[in-house]
Amino acid sequence: MVFSTLLAEFTKKYGQGHLIVFFEIVFFLSKIVKTKNSFHDHRKIKIDFSLKKFKKMCMQYFLHEKPLAHITKHTKFCNLDFLIKKKVLVPRENTENMTYDFIRNFRKMKNRNVVDLCCGCGAIGLTVRKYLPTFQVSCIDKYLQPIINTKLNAKKLGVEANIIKINVFKYLTKQKKLDLIISNPPYINKKTFKNKKMLHWESKKALFAKNNGYAFYDYFFAWLKNNRFNQCWLEYGFEQKQILKAKLEKIANLRYCFKKNYYVIITSK
Ligand SMILES: C[S@@+](CC[C@H](N)C(=O)[O-])C[C@H]1O[C@@H](n2cnc3c(N)ncnc32)[C@H](O)[C@@H]1O
Repeated sequence: MVFSTLLAEFTKKYGQGHLIVFFEIVFFLSKIVKTKNSFHDHRKIKIDFSLKKFKKMCMQYFLHEKPLAHITKHTKFCNLDFLIKKKVLVPRENTENMTYDFIRNFRKMKNRNVVDLCCGCGAIGLTVRKYLPTFQVSCIDKYLQPIINTKLNAKKLGVEANIIKINVFKYLTKQKKLDLIISNPPYINKKTFKNKKMLHWESKKALFAKNNGYAFYDYFFAWLKNNRFNQCWLEYGFEQKQILKAKLEKIANLRYCFKKNYYVIITSK
């Protein structure tokens, strides 16, 4: 089968609305077709990969809801290419928006220190370092797979970062003063979570937090209350704003500002 026939069969079955899936899978499997232009140039040439494998990947996406980034083992984040290892969380659009805002906010500054707590594949911290190269960045995660993934991405992006495998709670107890903190921690309440298929592809450790999803925020707020820092940017879940606001309201020495992209910026009063 030639590339153009593969495309025709794909659109007949899945429609025109999923062309991004088609191209991502083709670019992943093919050794010769890596861009849409080269697809056009090779459209009359026989595909250079197994049709069975292509069909299997389409099934994984359409039938089993496997995230595209776990099929092709990479994703774009803030215009950078990140490798995604098995069971490491695929960074989301809200996180990307928070990271862009963070970079925009600090773009005129130099030599700041940033810590990305619960770094996953390293998307936030490594992106900050890539776009603000005078900043020193530390990426923290408790688990080996995300740490390996972050190290691979640092190498791929050609950026330096201090990548530390440690429980974030233990890490924070050792710190008395931090400059800039940014985090997308686990925040889902296991008891009310319904998307069983998601659990098949992404790690429970990346998603769920104790205290109805608030365990990381509770710990972070207590640390912020009792230690010195300049700014803390925290992503949160769609329905968590009111509860987080009530928690922050009770802490006299913290000032906070909730932003539209589901993150809150905290500073000291
Ligand atoms: C929601 S994911 C976020 C990953 C990444 N920041 C992103 O936005 O794509 C949360 C991450 O926290 C890590 N994690 C869970 N519990 C942790 C803990 N106690 N200490 C440090 N990291 C933890 C998980 O391994 C996972 O990579």
